[in-house]
Amino acid sequence: MITRLQIRKPDDMHVHLREGDMMREVVPHTAGVFGRALVMPNLKNAVIHGTSAARYRDEILRACSELRLPFDPLMTVKLTAQTTTDVIKGAYSCGVAAVKLYPEGVTTNSTGGIRDPDQINPDVFRAMAHNGMVLCVHAEEPGLFSLDRESGYLRHVEKIATAHPNLRIVIEHITSRDGVEFVHRAGPNVAATITVHHLLITLDDVIGDKLNPHNFCKPIAKREADRAALVTAALSGNPKFFLGTDSAPHAQDTKECASGCAGCFTAPAAIELLTEIFDAHGALPGLESFTSIFGAQFYGLGLNMGTITIVKEPWEIPATCGAVVPFMAGKRIGWRVAK
Ligand code: DOR
Ligand code: ZN
Repeated sequence: MITRLQIRKPDDMHVHLREGDMMREVVPHTAGVFGRALVMPNLKNAVIHGTSAARYRDEILRACSELRLPFDPLMTVKLTAQTTTDVIKGAYSCGVAAVKLYPEGVTTNSTGGIRDPDQINPDVFRAMAHNGMVLCVHAEEPGLFSLDRESGYLRHVEKIATAHPNLRIVIEHITSRDGVEFVHRAGPNVAATITVHHLLITLDDVIGDKLNPHNFCKPIAKREADRAALVTAALSGNPKFFLGTDSAPHAQDTKECASGCAGCFTAPAAIELLTEIFDAHGALPGLESFTSIFGAQFYGLGLNMGTITIVKEPWEIPATCGAVVPFMAGKRIGWRVAK
């Protein structure tokens, strides 16, 4: 029986760190375990230019350096109808790694997103491909029935991926069997991140019994067949699938209310929960590829140098982390990242 596991420091290829006090509260949960993370741009004032991405990176780095946590935040900018090739070039020169496409209004702070993906200037995609930047897509079709939104958006991704075979595209937080099958079918320029929570929950864990706002996220968790397809993809050893937690903190009162925000705050136990999933399937030897290798390879980054050690030692996910209730608060877990 494996009771101790050493893996290369992982990368979280999709995380929400927010700003100010909230950022300082949540960042140690990510920076304490992950070597790097791709930081999403959907702040209250969205990050749409390289200069604001660089300022945001500095704010994160300052917080990590005060905590003496070595961490490399990889930055993103949000694609808008006003994004030009010059904006892309500017973002590249500021070290921005990826551009995020949010369809208008589908999730937290996504107003000012893309209304019609056919209207995006193809030169913008060409500039991204030319500079080796990645397109990250929140693939949900606004206005469709919740469970069909992801499937309904894949045609747009297919169009972009076919027209721009040199543009690397990541479908973020895939949640459906259709999404998994699409990524398998698509060319080598298309990959997907998978979250920890979508490997664990279905819609029934959100609304099947009493309403659980801490399991409410976008895209919404779907059917058991969808969850099972995601588990199979994560365990498959196919490098097109890698970890992006979409850890998304919201203060407790903005989740437990009449108009609750979408987002699961998984960072405090992401690697531990994932280790449990891989362990339950007898797949621990494949964990490192999913967390620490496939994402870096798709992004063209070197692998992290350090390691983390995960030990079989029970602990309980805390009831709160500052103002935020973490995903699966109070759950006893069998694995723990050694400090
Ligand atoms: O559940 C989500 N929360 N999905 C997203 O796409 C955004 C995120 C957030 O920023 O809260
Ligand atoms: Zn996200």
